[in-house]
Amino acid sequence: MNILLTGGAGYIGSHTAVELLQKNHSVIIFDNLSNSDINVLDKIEKITGKRPDFVKGDVRSREDLQKLFDSKKIDCVIHFAGLKAVGESVAEPLMYYENNFNGTVYLLQEMKKHNVKNIIFSSSATVYKPTDKNPITEEYELGASNPYGRTKLFIEEMLKDLYASDKSFNVVLLRYFNPIGAHSSGLLGENPSGIPNNLMPYICRVATGKLEILSVFGNDYPTKDGTGVRDYIHVMDLASGHAKAIDKIEENCGLAVYNLGTGIGYSVLDIVNTFNKVNGNLVKYKIAPRRDGDLAEYYACAKKANDELGWKAEKTLEDMCRSAYLYEKNNG
Ligand code: NAD
Ligand code: UD1
Repeated sequence: MNILLTGGAGYIGSHTAVELLQKNHSVIIFDNLSNSDINVLDKIEKITGKRPDFVKGDVRSREDLQKLFDSKKIDCVIHFAGLKAVGESVAEPLMYYENNFNGTVYLLQEMKKHNVKNIIFSSSATVYKPTDKNPITEEYELGASNPYGRTKLFIEEMLKDLYASDKSFNVVLLRYFNPIGAHSSGLLGENPSGIPNNLMPYICRVATGKLEILSVFGNDYPTKDGTGVRDYIHVMDLASGHAKAIDKIEENCGLAVYNLGTGIGYSVLDIVNTFNKVNGNLVKYKIAPRRDGDLAEYYACAKKANDELGWKAEKTLEDMCRSAYLYEKNNG
């Protein structure tokens, strides 16, 4: 298939590009490079021996989208492009609605105009209403608690409306849990600018000495060791989930929703201890107060993706910690 990856130069998109090229799909990356670097194309080529096609552009620009769809043959779109920082979305909600929501409206309009009717959307576990009942299935009640999450939820609703209006669309909503880790080559990975908010990037910066100590946000949650529990998934497992979703689209699946998680919950201390075990004792931590808005525990029920996509996360927590650190050492 000829697959367009909006936001394909970013963290999850670049790993997915590798997976798709290795499965002999053609890949076109469309990205405004607001949170990524053009040199990712060289790295993808180094790993796969193939260079993805690249078009610089913005999903908020109808003109950029029109040029893209006029000039390229596209069978399916994986829509990664968007902003993803929860705190920033609280401070700048309109920027998030414009980029994530409006950008998706324009993309879908252009797709419809060109009769491109296959889309996979990067959604998030954040669309579920906070709950203490785990594992979380796709049927759980929805209800995001911040502007970023609401952009994801509203886009999901819009895609459902679009499908209801035109059943010749195939729409796959993938709800990612907590993606971490990097490609085993150490060439691709996650490199957030500024001080990271998320756990693994913060740990990596402590390990390389760029930050002094990790604050563990709370050790009095009702979890196995008192620290927060999440479903961390290796980014290459996530990438293979997208390749399976493409196979599903080739079967004309209609509208489908899948959690992409491992089904296993690890605590903050599990992550720190495993990181220190596989990479040497590099990460010091201290217990700090809980972070506002954090839940004690959530992890996916991954059964539906296992059964219907024939997909299962295969990498271990050790793989996630080892690859994340390798990338940080090479690129941080
Ligand atoms: P990322 O920031 O690394 O990648 C997003 C890419 O989109 C970047 O390359 C950026 O330059 C590009 N982009 C942003 N706005 C654009 C625009 N208007 N036009 C064109 N390109 C634009 O993020 P990621 O971690 O790879 O996330 C990819 C998608 O997955 C996002 O939609 C994100 O919300 C979603 N998601 C991510 C996580 C996570 O933890 N990383 C979890 C759940 C869902
Ligand atoms: C956050 C986002 C979520 C997004 C996800 C991406 C919030 C409220 N949610 O989820 O929308 O999809 O990132 O992966 O921001 N922790 C520490 N110290 C740190 C950083 C984190 O102890 O310095 C703990 C947190 O309290 C939490 C766990 O580590 O228990 C994971 O945190 P994080 O990586 O930020 O992910 P989430 O909060 O699950």
